[in-house]
Amino acid sequence: MMTMIPLFLSLLSLLLVTLPATLASHSPPIFFPGATYPSSSLKQDDTLKKNIPFKTQFFPQILDHFTYHPKSYIIFYQKYLINSQFWHHGAPIFVYTGNEGNIEWFAANTGFLLDIAPKFRALLVFIEHRYYGESLPFGKDSYNSAEMVGYLNSQQALADYAVLIRSLKQNLSSEASPVVVFGGSYGGMLAAWFRLKYPHVAIGALASSAPILHFDDIIPQTSFYDAVSQDFKSVSLNCYQVIKGSWAELAAFSSQGQGLAELSKNFKSCKGLPSVDAAQNWLWAAFVYTAMVNYPTEANFMMHLPAYPVKEMCKIIDALPPGETKLSKAFAAASLYYNYSQTEKCFNIEHGSDAHGLHGWDWQACTEMVMPMSCSSESMFTPYSYNYSAFAEECMKMYGVTPRPHWITTEFGGKQIEKILKRFGSNIIFSNGMQDPWSRGGVLKNISASIVALVTEEGAHHVDFRFATKDDPNWLVEQRRQEVDIIQSWIDEYYCDLRS
Ligand SMILES: *[C@@H]1O[C@H](CO)[C@@H](O)[C@H](O)[C@H]1NC(C)=O
Ligand SMILES: *[C@@H]1O[C@H](CO)[C@@H](O)[C@H](O)[C@H]1NC(C)=O
Ligand SMILES: *[C@@H]1O[C@H](CO)[C@@H](O)[C@H](O)[C@H]1NC(C)=O
Ligand SMILES: *[C@@H]1O[C@H](CO)[C@@H](O)[C@H](O)[C@H]1NC(C)=O
Repeated sequence: MMTMIPLFLSLLSLLLVTLPATLASHSPPIFFPGATYPSSSLKQDDTLKKNIPFKTQFFPQILDHFTYHPKSYIIFYQKYLINSQFWHHGAPIFVYTGNEGNIEWFAANTGFLLDIAPKFRALLVFIEHRYYGESLPFGKDSYNSAEMVGYLNSQQALADYAVLIRSLKQNLSSEASPVVVFGGSYGGMLAAWFRLKYPHVAIGALASSAPILHFDDIIPQTSFYDAVSQDFKSVSLNCYQVIKGSWAELAAFSSQGQGLAELSKNFKSCKGLPSVDAAQNWLWAAFVYTAMVNYPTEANFMMHLPAYPVKEMCKIIDALPPGETKLSKAFAAASLYYNYSQTEKCFNIEHGSDAHGLHGWDWQACTEMVMPMSCSSESMFTPYSYNYSAFAEECMKMYGVTPRPHWITTEFGGKQIEKILKRFGSNIIFSNGMQDPWSRGGVLKNISASIVALVTEEGAHHVDFRFATKDDPNWLVEQRRQEVDIIQSWIDEYYCDLRS
């Protein structure tokens, strides 16, 4: 039976991200791509809505695909975006399997599909994930209790996509159109799993930066933060050492009670002086997200940032005089992340805003998406050992539920993935950029002739999904070309099978 615990929205949004940061027994904040930290302009997604070339539709979706309890039949309206300007009847349908946020945000950051649609004459569909954006089964009450939010999980989301795609094809009288699914990050995990679970619905999947191996004990727990640190270290050893040394200074300020004064000298907090824990998380987020989006061109995904932002951060640190504290250097570097636009009047340090509606990830992290993470002494963060019991206690407090840390590997696999998928499965591209710390939980080796890993040393978090620009480096142009060629081969094969 599900425990009913009333919780209020304000409690949920940032709790997991900020909770563990007591400097004495700190655990790293949880930074899934969708975690809640950054972003300043709350209205951003409304603006996006007007500026992306998609029509918004709502589909009556069923609440629970897997039981026949009367409540299962409750209908909610699931949003999807559609673009048919390039489509010819019978041509392919490209579906983006939405992740943990407003679908407009992902549509705006997946220009790749608009770039390739004309070549394939493809219909483009971006489906919003249930419980995100406007696809809320119980409206504003959707997160009020575990009873309400309990229908938020990846298996329900995949089933939503399958049901919606079938309905769409039927309405378009286009049952024979091949469907290819695309997704980045968590959306990439969904795209890959969708191909494995619904091979009769999608002929192939392009899963970009999808850390499907970041579960259980498949990869070392330290991988993620080691990878972030490696990004900085490989640019400048000094930069890495400054950041690594800044945490002890922050802790010392804290214990001497002078931290806040020192912090206030360095930056303008919107709501008075931040707590030291909040300041630590704020810095931590800046370094993690900048590593993730270490793109080769200027971009605005998490935040507006210059090309190769890790290098730019380290330039700031390396240029400051030796007399400055490591902490103030770290703050100066973080300002690149939070204030590259140079228009921020003050920083929201205690509470990052949630411009893209991502807070539902906390629930997912507390139930099925359990990704163990530690910081090794080699990393530039303070060492920390993952403590599952402590994590589970926090989840119980927040939602009244206990995580199921082995469910994802039970439901979708992941252990010995090469041996398994070599004999089962086909037509999946796993693309990863090694600058992205999530790449360490990705599939980095070719598994079979049609389950292919495209890995770029200089790539970052689903960089291949961004609009092509004239400044794109050759490796990126080449990666996208390979992706298009492979997708073309799936489609050719599909039509060939259809004819015979
Ligand atoms: C297909 O048409 C039905 C009936 O008009 C409608 O309810 C449903 O939302 C449509 N499907 C999609 C995916 O739009
Ligand atoms: C952001 O940058 C501008 C320009 O350098 C500066 O005037 C402003 O104070 C900065 N904002 C914060 C909060 O530090
Ligand atoms: C892990 O957390 C539990 C529950 O909070 C605590 O009792 C235990 O001492 C912790 N273990 C370690 C090794 O810190
Ligand atoms: C996988 O195979 C493709 C060719 O199909 C190749 O371009 C690519 O580099 C291979 N990936 C890895 C990680 O070796």
